[in-house]
This record gives sequence, C-alpha cells and structure tokens, in this order.
Amino acid sequence: MHAPILVTGGTGTLGRLVVQRLRDAGYEVRVLSRRSRQDEDGVEFVTGDLATGEGVDAAVAGTGIVLHCAGGPKGDGDKARHLVRAASRAEVRHLVFISVVGADRVPLASGLDRAMFGYFGSKLAAERAVAGSGLPWTTLRATQFHDLLLLVVRQLARLPVVPVPAGFRFQPVDAGEVAARLVELALGRPAGLVPDLGGPRVYELAELVRGYLRASGRHRPILPVRVPGTAARALRAGANLAPDPAVGHRTWEEFLADELGPGVRGTASARS
Ligand SMILES: NC(=O)c1ccc[n+]([C@@H]2O[C@H](COP(=O)([O-])OP(=O)(O)OC[C@H]3O[C@@H](n4cnc5c(N)ncnc54)[C@H](OP(=O)(O)O)[C@@H]3O)[C@@H](O)[C@H]2O)c1
Repeated sequence: MHAPILVTGGTGTLGRLVVQRLRDAGYEVRVLSRRSRQDEDGVEFVTGDLATGEGVDAAVAGTGIVLHCAGGPKGDGDKARHLVRAASRAEVRHLVFISVVGADRVPLASGLDRAMFGYFGSKLAAERAVAGSGLPWTTLRATQFHDLLLLVVRQLARLPVVPVPAGFRFQPVDAGEVAARLVELALGRPAGLVPDLGGPRVYELAELVRGYLRASGRHRPILPVRVPGTAARALRAGANLAPDPAVGHRTWEEFLADELGPGVRGTASARS
C-alpha cells in the first residue's frame, strides 16, 4: 500500500477538489484541519494548526508527498515554516505548494501596503520557506479563483453604490483546473517554480462586478475609487496577472452561469 498523501487545507475550496481528484485516482489521503472531523472513505483527518505548529508532525508522519493548500489572508509564511520543519524531520520526498501570481511583484513599501496587500508578502515568505527547505519541491502560482472573486463582488454589490478600485484587473481561474494541475505536479517529479496558471481572460474589476449584477438581476451604480500606495500601483500595472500564455479554460461567464443560473453565459463583456 502507498503512503497517504497529505493535503493541508484539504477542507478549503481548492483543497477539497485536490482531495477528490486524488481519491478518484485511487490514492489514500490525509487532511490536516484545525477542526476534528470524521474520517471518510480513503480520507483520514488529522487535527493540527499550522500557525502554531501543533499537530503538524503527526500529520506529516509516514507521508511521502505533501500538498500544501492551507492558507489565509495573513501568516502564511509562518504556516509554511512550521510545515517545512515537520516535513524535513519526516523526510518527505515531494513538497508541493500553491502560491499566488504576483507574490514577487507586489511591493510592500508602507504600512498601508502591508495592511491592504500583505497577503502577497506572506505568500512570498511561504514560497521562500518551501524553496529553502532542502526538500524536493514544486511551487505553482495561480491567479484568483472564480469563487474568491464571486465572494468579493457579492460583498461589494451589497452596497447601494459599489466602490471599485480603479484600474484593478483580474484573471479569474477555475479552482478545479488549479486542483488538476496541482495533482499532476504532485504525482510528477519535483520541478521547482513552474509556469503560472491563470484564467483564460483578463477583466477590469468593474466588468466582473457588472457581470455579477447582471447575472443576479440587480442594478447598482459603480464608483471607481483610486487606491493609494505602491502595492496598488503595482496591481494597476498588472502584477497579479499571469505573464505566460494562460492555460485555464473555464471563463467567469461560465462559472457565473453555473453558480447563479442560466441566461448569463456570454453576456458580460470581456477582453483578453
Ligand atoms: N482563492 C484564491 O483566489 C487563490 C489564488 C491563488 C492562490 N491561492 C492559495 O490557494 C490556497 C487555498 O485557497 P482557498 O481559496 O482554497 O482557501 P480556503 O477555501 O479559504 O481554505 C483555506 C484552508 O486552509 C486551512 N487553514 C487555514 N489556516 C490554517 C491553519 N492555521 N492550520 C491548518 N489549516 C489551516 C483551512 O482548514 P480548516 O479551516 O479546516 O482548518 C482551509 O482548508 C491558499 O494557500 C491560497 O493562498 C488562492
């Protein structure tokens, strides 16, 4: 029998899809979560917290491949360092990490930058922990998932006037496509930093909001807001967009149609 594959963040949007794909391919999976859960067919849940390191040694013990999908708005550098230390002790043979496009291109020059966009810095710190671990590793950077952007536009659209950071663009990607690529990478040879994975189109944030408003049958005025700071300037320059040819296929319109019902496909204006 093969050693189980550890998926940190296996309860999250991406991680759940990774776990499903590994199960479909016949692998035994172990999931690290902060909350205890009942084991499922072929999936063992281990309780631990990457922010403190508690339970992480036990989660990693006896695994050969670790897919690190756990993350949050902040502190991902510390989480990765705790995981790396445990993985080194357990002599893991492949550590796979999901990062974000722009981790190395969004400068955090001020307190404002860090408060608003510190996420990119923490992903870069995590990348460095993985690359410096001494373990065989692979890191994939992806653009924002459809699910996250839907969450963002839903929140924004609650307001009577929708404030939208001017000049911000996004390249939404399907979390299922990211999961498929991560699994492919995890089962292959350690490859270091691999080409970015971005969605098929780049949209102004305002376009994503308009697409959502249309799809949900609502009307709201949009108010462009200029966000100050160096990090925001980098985002306006496209630091979060995948520079390589995009490989994702599922579009924002297709995602919205599936999430919110028919009649949406192809209605939002988009540009490559
Ligand atoms: N969402 C995006 O657009 C996007 C784009 C590029 C890269 N990424 C990266 O992809 C990864 C997954 O994103 P997602 O959107 O799927 O996240 P998500 O749905 O918010 O799930 C986060 C996962 O991380 C786990 N987690 C958080 N803090 C933890 C801690 N201290 N200890 C152990 N587990 C912890 C959670 O597990 P429990 O709650 O069960 O403990 C949960 O399974 C993240 O690293 C994120 O930075 C996301």
